[in-house]
Amino acid sequence: MRRILVAGNWKLNGSLAANAELLDGIIAGASADAPVDLLVCPPYPYLAGIADKLEGTGIAVGAQNVSQQASGAFTGEVAASMLVESGCTHVLVGHSERRSLYGESSKTVAEKFEAAQAAKLIPVLCIGETLEEREAGRTEAVVSEQLDAVIEQVGVQALADSILAYEPVWAIGTGMTATPEQAQDVHKFIRERIAGLDASVAEGLRILYGGSVKGSNAAGLFAMADIDGGLIGGASLKADDFLAIANAAS
Ligand code: 13P
Repeated sequence: MRRILVAGNWKLNGSLAANAELLDGIIAGASADAPVDLLVCPPYPYLAGIADKLEGTGIAVGAQNVSQQASGAFTGEVAASMLVESGCTHVLVGHSERRSLYGESSKTVAEKFEAAQAAKLIPVLCIGETLEEREAGRTEAVVSEQLDAVIEQVGVQALADSILAYEPVWAIGTGMTATPEQAQDVHKFIRERIAGLDASVAEGLRILYGGSVKGSNAAGLFAMADIDGGLIGGASLKADDFLAIANAAS
């Protein structure tokens, strides 16, 4: 049985004051025995402070990006080992905003995945198609290419220590959520593709859905057989909204 994970991707949002208010609200409202794991992914400068604050709460901390390099002359980059020292257990890799706005190729994303695991971080690999690709009937081809690049880099077994997030680009920040059936179709496709290589890895792997998830649509999505939680953008920035999604998982 896969446990539901509700993860908040704060993107480029937050301040010391706003973060404190948000986290106080989440800590106060999160029930320790709910059958759901929680993860927050704030911007880099806040990670260490937030990891301290969340110690003992059971809420995990992740970064939104990581360098594929371990150290050296790479100005502006942050290594996986540094994220570990900052209290992170998870890191997002391959978010569509990194792919489209910062030119990250599937090969680069695969290298980041590998660097994260080398430092014992759990990578949350994000994959998903654009509206144009969906309309051209290329959804399965696109997610396969993004997934296969990682499998080629690290092998299918490495997926056992990772999390996947299917985020259709057309659903991100648009209010246009995929229907539970649309999302389930792709999640099932992804799981079956992995099962073709290793059935037990596929069975244990958590595949989150991301793209305009909110309290009102989360329960329908999480009820689907192959949807194991959510990667939440906008609705992770208000404690009540984030908790409503977490509660939908119970
Ligand atoms: P929204 O929930 O704002 O659509 O963002 C989804 C997302 O990109 C999470 O990584």
